[in-house]
Amino acid sequence: MAVSENIKLTGVSIGALLLGLALPYLHFLASPKLATFIGDFPIPDYPLAYPFFRNPTTTTNATNASTAAEASPPEAPPFVCDSLHNYRTELVSLDPLIIYIHNLISPTEIKSLLDTAEPLFAPSTVTKHGRKQNTNDRTSSSAGLPRDDATVKCVLGRARNFMGTMLRDGWDEMGAPQLVRYKKGERFNIHHDWFNNPLWANDGSDRRWNRVASFFAILQDNCTGGETHFPFAKAIAPPSPIGEPLWGGSHDDQVQKGVEEVKPLWREHEDGGLAFRPVAGNAIFWINLHPNGTGDLRTNHAGLPLDDGLKTAMNIWPRRYYAYE
Ligand SMILES: *[C@@H]1O[C@H](CO)[C@@H](O)[C@H](O)[C@H]1NC(C)=O
Ligand SMILES: *[C@@H]1O[C@H](CO)[C@@H](O)[C@H](O)[C@H]1NC(C)=O
Ligand SMILES: *[C@@H]1O[C@H](CO)[C@@H](O)[C@H](O)[C@H]1NC(C)=O
Repeated sequence: MAVSENIKLTGVSIGALLLGLALPYLHFLASPKLATFIGDFPIPDYPLAYPFFRNPTTTTNATNASTAAEASPPEAPPFVCDSLHNYRTELVSLDPLIIYIHNLISPTEIKSLLDTAEPLFAPSTVTKHGRKQNTNDRTSSSAGLPRDDATVKCVLGRARNFMGTMLRDGWDEMGAPQLVRYKKGERFNIHHDWFNNPLWANDGSDRRWNRVASFFAILQDNCTGGETHFPFAKAIAPPSPIGEPLWGGSHDDQVQKGVEEVKPLWREHEDGGLAFRPVAGNAIFWINLHPNGTGDLRTNHAGLPLDDGLKTAMNIWPRRYYAYE
């Protein structure tokens, strides 16, 4: 039985076609005897066999439509959350608790978050007297992040795990994450992240909540200035002696690689407290609320003005919900 390039609608060629369609399945299921029987039939190479069978080495013009579709620019592969992503914590202050997190967010995640947020940036607001307002205290722009985005979910999941038992599953939540961007001269004057009066839940429940903790993760650090200053923080140890290169090797490794200056990641500020310089991928984590649920004034902090360049960061504000009232 000959197989031609053209489809002949004879009984024989239709029989061969049906067999051709079934062949890929029969091939795996068939007994050796049957397989031999099937093996006696050539595998048809015409379009109707596609997509059940396709020999990649013999593309005919009849499949031009599908090859054209394949030739169009490939879609970016879907984001895959790296469940083995590794970060390292540096305990900075015990009371209030401040933890520096090295490598909380990977470069791939940063790129994806920025791509998502780029069209969403708008001038930042602050909540004063229970209302959102634009203010000179905060000259920056912000972008709310969609919580159903794969990368956002991935990073929030990591932050949620970091919180451990401080959040109660099914009761507390990670809140709405936000990107914030500062340019030359822009700043955020001293403020605290917690609300003076807990906010009502907008999920229909009779609950109120406050920001129990904060993650401030740097995504873009192309700037001078722009440190985050906690005037009331007290360090329990000097900055990590190998500083920034924690994830790039020891100080000696860095020097060998030609890194000239290994700047510490945070320092004691001349006006008191601690100042953290922006380093992409790294985050500051702190606890905002006292055990009795009131805000801790010692978490007051400022985003110091940028001398130049650009700083983009991600705010994550996990929420503690209080009991029904
Ligand atoms: C496919 O089509 C192109 C032009 O559309 C033609 O040049 C080429 O020879 C054809 N190839 C086959 C295998 O028919
Ligand atoms: C809550 O706890 C803090 C820290 O212990 C304390 O300073 C504050 O007075 C307490 N507030 C209330 C309302 O109990
Ligand atoms: C970093 O910022 C400077 C000053 O704004 C600019 O000239 C430079 O192109 C920026 N570099 C990158 C990689 O964004």
